[in-house]
Amino acid sequence: MADLTDFIQQVKRSNDIADVIGSYLELRRAGSSLVARCPFHGEKTASFHVNRNMQIFHCFGCGESGDVIKFVQKYESCTFWEALEILAKRANIPMPETQYTKQDKDFADKKKKRDTYLQICRQTGKFYYRCYRSDVGAAAREYMRGRGFDDDTVNAFGIGYSPDKYSLVRYLDKAGFSRDDCIKAGVLSRTAGGDVFDALTGRLIIPIINMQGNVIAFGGRGLDEQTVRFGKYKNTTETPVFVKKDNLFAVNIVKKLKQQNALTDLVVVEGYMDVIAMYQAGFHSVVASMGTSLTEKQAMWLSRLADTVYICYDGDAAGQKATVRGMDILDKAGLEVRVMSVPEKLDPDEYIKKYGKDAFEQLIKQALPLPDYKLRLLDSAFDINSSDAAVRNNALPKYVKGALVMLRSLDDVRQARYITAVSLKTGYSEDYFRRKLAQDNADDAAREITEQLSSPQDKARYFVAACMLRGEPYAVLDDKPICNTSFLSDLFDYLLDCVSKGAAPVVDMMYTVCPDAREQEYNQILDVDLSESKRDVNERYYRQCKRLLTVEKLKFKRDALLKKIKSNPADASLLDELAQLSQQINKA
Ligand code: UTP
Ligand code: MN
Repeated sequence: MADLTDFIQQVKRSNDIADVIGSYLELRRAGSSLVARCPFHGEKTASFHVNRNMQIFHCFGCGESGDVIKFVQKYESCTFWEALEILAKRANIPMPETQYTKQDKDFADKKKKRDTYLQICRQTGKFYYRCYRSDVGAAAREYMRGRGFDDDTVNAFGIGYSPDKYSLVRYLDKAGFSRDDCIKAGVLSRTAGGDVFDALTGRLIIPIINMQGNVIAFGGRGLDEQTVRFGKYKNTTETPVFVKKDNLFAVNIVKKLKQQNALTDLVVVEGYMDVIAMYQAGFHSVVASMGTSLTEKQAMWLSRLADTVYICYDGDAAGQKATVRGMDILDKAGLEVRVMSVPEKLDPDEYIKKYGKDAFEQLIKQALPLPDYKLRLLDSAFDINSSDAAVRNNALPKYVKGALVMLRSLDDVRQARYITAVSLKTGYSEDYFRRKLAQDNADDAAREITEQLSSPQDKARYFVAACMLRGEPYAVLDDKPICNTSFLSDLFDYLLDCVSKGAAPVVDMMYTVCPDAREQEYNQILDVDLSESKRDVNERYYRQCKRLLTVEKLKFKRDALLKKIKSNPADASLLDELAQLSQQINKA
């Protein structure tokens, strides 16, 4: 373990955080720090700060913070171990081969497994690709031609075909992969009876490729009614390398466009075939959410690719609660959301076939900003302009309630604008809406304050840890205080370990020793103002805190002892102990 900690330190020392982050993002100098737009929550202003002295990053927008390893881990969506490996490679440091703790070994094993699954997916994709282009693929080629797709389009997506149940099995056997691994990678299935076969037998194959260019899964389109009866599409099941709801189809294509500065309005559609049809029509900046409503992970991918996204969902899906929630997730991720409406309940593929690409271009131009789209949904749900007064009177309060929900999700500037619009529409005064919204804000503030109220002991724990971690000369401690979170417990273990070794603690090590802590906990440490000007005050407060924690721990011991005495009233040695403890408490 000691070796590993040293190794981690070595890797970190050889990878200056500003250099590493600078290779991913454009860092600007602002005062004494380096800033950028946060890659983790998407935003228009730059709240993402990199601090060279402390070797940490911190986003004042979303609260995300960490050391150089955590940055790589989050940015590349990889494990701690993989991030370490990336950084070690970058600094030409060989990875150690032995002496990992169990957790580290698990990481290494998992990574190896993931690599195997990726290889299996890659080989499987090659197999399907060849089948599509050989004699057995005639039906699939016919199908694609029938839908109007040309060879360039088919090749751009690496479309394939699964000819039968067992050819893939034989192919993967021959390539030397174990059946278990192939099943875990999702490309083969096994029945209860033990029969192993191609999971997407007889289907047209659409490879799903991630940002890094790895094939991670497949979508299989049934070509005939017989197959479609078991699902129009069958997809690779969830595997260690593929979680459908967290991925986007065609991100690999869009990422390339972005690298070539050729990205245009980024459109999000539902289906594989929509992406493919749009691609052929010349709209290349398109990804598919693959049927489900949008998730935060998907929002993160999208915000890395663009600032504005156009949502183009089928008539029946758009407007559904889950769909709107998905759009809110994008909005929260800092993306500018525009909603397209395709007439006649057509999907983009069908619409382009029927009306052509220019008509589709018009739909993009007519897309509504999210708030306007929500108002339009309200318009169609509640008829506040009905000629029937009863209908009108019934609809109006519901409309207003819905409008308030929409207004609440807006920032101040947009809120002011939409209050005017909503007031005009409903006849309720602007003041009414403003008052209602102010009420909400007051409630929120009250809630926040009660949430922040913690005991003096809680504050003391963080303050003491912060002073020790940041090497304040007066910050001495010899006994671990009571810790009510695993973050504090791990952090104090590390700090006391440093004390016993006579080593100076390193701020960014907290991300290594407490990898699963909440952002708020890291912030409690980072936000402590330890500037030189406050030195005296801090030193006094530190002593207070330390005392508070010592007393707390002694009292805790005393309570435990009292319980023991209750069940063993005859034990005199316990009473002695109690007397000693009480004395200590009084002296502290
Ligand atoms: P659609 O039914 O709109 O598919 O489902 P589509 O892309 O228009 O397909 P075609 O044109 O009929 O061939 C949208 C997406 O939802 C997922 C797929 O990702 C599909 O592209 N889906 C749909 C499934 O995973 N399974 C299904 O059975 C249906
Ligand atoms: Mn379709």
